[in-house]
Amino acid sequence: MHISVTLCTFLSLLFSAHADVVERFEDEPECMKYFYKDKVPEWGASTPGAARLCQRFVNRYHFATLYDTNHRIAVYSAYQFQPSNGGGRERRWFVEPQLVNISWQAEMKDGYWLGKDHPGVYLGEKQALDEDYKHSGFDRGHLNPNGHHAVPSRNATFTLTNVVPQNPKLNQNSWRIHETQLTDLFKENCSKAYVLVGAIPSADTWIIKNNVKRVNIPDYLWNAYCCVDNNDRPVQSGAATARNTEENKVETLTLEGVGQFLQQFSNQPVGELFDNNCKAQTDNKKM
Ligand SMILES: *[C@@H]1O[C@H](CO)[C@@H](O)[C@H](O)[C@H]1NC(C)=O
Ligand SMILES: *[C@@H]1O[C@H](CO)[C@@H](O)[C@H](O)[C@H]1NC(C)=O
Ligand SMILES: *[C@@H]1O[C@H](CO)[C@@H](O)[C@H](O)[C@H]1NC(C)=O
Repeated sequence: MHISVTLCTFLSLLFSAHADVVERFEDEPECMKYFYKDKVPEWGASTPGAARLCQRFVNRYHFATLYDTNHRIAVYSAYQFQPSNGGGRERRWFVEPQLVNISWQAEMKDGYWLGKDHPGVYLGEKQALDEDYKHSGFDRGHLNPNGHHAVPSRNATFTLTNVVPQNPKLNQNSWRIHETQLTDLFKENCSKAYVLVGAIPSADTWIIKNNVKRVNIPDYLWNAYCCVDNNDRPVQSGAATARNTEENKVETLTLEGVGQFLQQFSNQPVGELFDNNCKAQTDNKKM
């Protein structure tokens, strides 16, 4: 009995420890640290063709992404904020080998070189490629922003599974400013900050290449954060939404507010994005 349990643990480690594409985030303990108190949001969980990515780079995980392989954009990325230590901009754009073939390497790879490794295999069936974004008029807009990380996590945000076609004005102006304001807030008031950044796909607006609908152009971007002290107790929370247009406007709101915002796009209850809505537990034992 004990031996078979040990064997099972060993086998499951063998098969899961180096996966990028996982069945459930919960199966990969190292990938759960991006979710406050191990709570994976229900939001997006039943998206058709959703893949769960533990974003692996230089032999470890950096964040998690729920990826919609039909729209070829993320539903959301989940991460913990890290103060940046500079390091410049990654020049490569990575793709997810295991979305092409589950037996391929468990680490993001420069799309150009993955193509060279596997001549004749089309990489873009289940994900967006760099060529889709070229001359599209849209920015490769980071969900999990590179500015919220130190190297090498910063490099790892340059995977196309973490970007969406974003209006250039929004990306370079008000959304960027909003990300910087979050940086200041997280540095000033939080010991740790857990963040979710997502996109709401449009009904039928796409980057089209050779008459093929390749990458959905989302209608909205949204984010939500839960900032905690060094005992993992909630200190502050908040959220934002932005229409993906040159209107270039970010609206800030509460976690409840973003819950209501998301509810418009789903028939199922949105549920809590963070454990207990990122509210301090009242200690009932204290008298
Ligand atoms: C991360 O990106 C920087 C800037 O391009 C680069 O100098 C560095 O080598 C990259 N790190 C890794 C681990 O690839
Ligand atoms: C996946 O890759 C393996 C190893 O390269 C190969 O044998 C297999 O045929 C590939 N599967 C598909 C569906 O292409
Ligand atoms: C940090 O928290 C204090 C007290 O709650 C608040 O007044 C301040 O605005 C916060 N800082 C930022 C950058 O949001």
